[in-house]
Amino acid sequence: MRRITVLMALPFAPVFALGNDGKNEPVPETVSFTKDVRPILNQHCQGCHQPAKAQGAYVLTDYGSLLKPGETGKTPVVPGKPADSYLIEEIRVRDGQHEMPKNRDALTTRQFAVIEKWIKQGAKDDTPAAAKTLAISQDKPPVYSAPPVVTSLAFDPAGKRLAVSGYHEILLFTADGASLQTRLVGLSERIQSLAFSPDGSRLAAVGGSPGRFGEVQIWDVAKSKLIVSAPVTADTLYGVSWAPDGSMVAFGCADNTVRGIDPATGKQTLQMGTHADWILGTTFSRDGRYLASVSRDMTVKLTEVATQRFIDNVTSITPGALKGGLMAVAVRPKTARWFQKVPEDTKGLPPKIYDELLVAGADGIPRLYKMHRETKRVIGDDANRIKEYAAMPGRTSAVAFDAAGQRFAAVSSLDGKGEVFVYDVSKDKVATCKDVSGPAYTTVWQPDGKVLVSAGFDGVVWRHDPVTGKLLSTFKAMPTTKVAAK
Ligand code: HEC
Repeated sequence: MRRITVLMALPFAPVFALGNDGKNEPVPETVSFTKDVRPILNQHCQGCHQPAKAQGAYVLTDYGSLLKPGETGKTPVVPGKPADSYLIEEIRVRDGQHEMPKNRDALTTRQFAVIEKWIKQGAKDDTPAAAKTLAISQDKPPVYSAPPVVTSLAFDPAGKRLAVSGYHEILLFTADGASLQTRLVGLSERIQSLAFSPDGSRLAAVGGSPGRFGEVQIWDVAKSKLIVSAPVTADTLYGVSWAPDGSMVAFGCADNTVRGIDPATGKQTLQMGTHADWILGTTFSRDGRYLASVSRDMTVKLTEVATQRFIDNVTSITPGALKGGLMAVAVRPKTARWFQKVPEDTKGLPPKIYDELLVAGADGIPRLYKMHRETKRVIGDDANRIKEYAAMPGRTSAVAFDAAGQRFAAVSSLDGKGEVFVYDVSKDKVATCKDVSGPAYTTVWQPDGKVLVSAGFDGVVWRHDPVTGKLLSTFKAMPTTKVAAK
């Protein structure tokens, strides 16, 4: 009897996975702002109506603001009276037309009904107290009592600015960390991954608030202005990367998809769904034709960007051949070889350029792979693998090549301790960075290759000499009193 129950329950699982957007679910008897209305606003509205980007001078990221009129002066929500509420006017579909979400698909009939019923039932606020205190904006920046866990670092291509992930914000420091120049405060509680555009004019950040929403932020660096806040899925996003021509920003999702957006508009332009677990890292081929992604499912997969098609597994797909989930991937910036030997089965396609990928994860072993296979796949092979390097203690969550592509750095964490290693691509490990004060999660080279910058759990940013491993200086990833908090 028990067994039958389990089997019968399985086919229904996807229905629950649809959550509040499930078209077939009835509108709840009593509509909750937090459980029913908030997720709709997070997914379809807050990208354009948040403190850092208030279109129509209207903010709906917290209950208080949602009730305040925008530039029209019309009352958006009149408790008990949906017909008098301007917000309802804006989202209503009439003759196939709707105002909000602007230039996007209209809300579904069910989503509309949920919001309408909530207003009818008195538009009550049931926001948990913990979420209320999170009303953070550029004018009310986060206050730190200790440095945050640092999950990502990025240098602009000129080597002038160092971006550090903070709590609810990105901190832009001078290259040496001596002074904090700008605080880019956004919606996402956690910033998981940062990357400057190839020309350095824009900064992409992905993250979110766990279990509530995922977000891609695109900032204009010179103006410190948020250009795009794109809501994607209901969970945190990972592993951001730019197409070499700046036309796409790709990232990984906890719904096992790899996605890409147009960084100018926030519109989704790529989605690939053959991974079986979260995707934690992405990188484009040097010509931008392919996107490589690494996942907790232990595989590296290739997507053809133009067609959004899954092309190949870079790694072995034989069960048991790979050990542990993958967390980091980087494309080698320079290689001696240029063109790819085309295997028989891809005859007729234009020649590919030759690329190498560095991959690492839970087993702590950095591995170098050819991006494209040159021989036909044989069961059990790992034919694309070029080299395996000395293992790090614990899990390796980030790898980074230097600009010349001859050295790379990798960071790891185990039992409350961290390591930062430097490797020579054609040899093996060449340096151990000293005085790393905690688990290390992220690393980046100063573009001139003279300094390696890393950070992690304790929020201390370490600047090392990559040749000797000597610790040059440190700074804390948080605002000091010198920065005026408006
Ligand atoms: C792509 C950006 C975008 C999205 C997404 C979006 N809006 Fe707007 N919204 C705007 C802009 C721009 C305006 C200013 C008026 C205009 O240009 O139509 C506006 C104006 C409004 C106003 C009027 C404010 C006032 O009093 O002047 C309301 C209410 C509103 N939006 C609600 C919503 C809701 C609810 C959603 C989600 C269902 C949503 N918007 C999604 C861009 C957006």
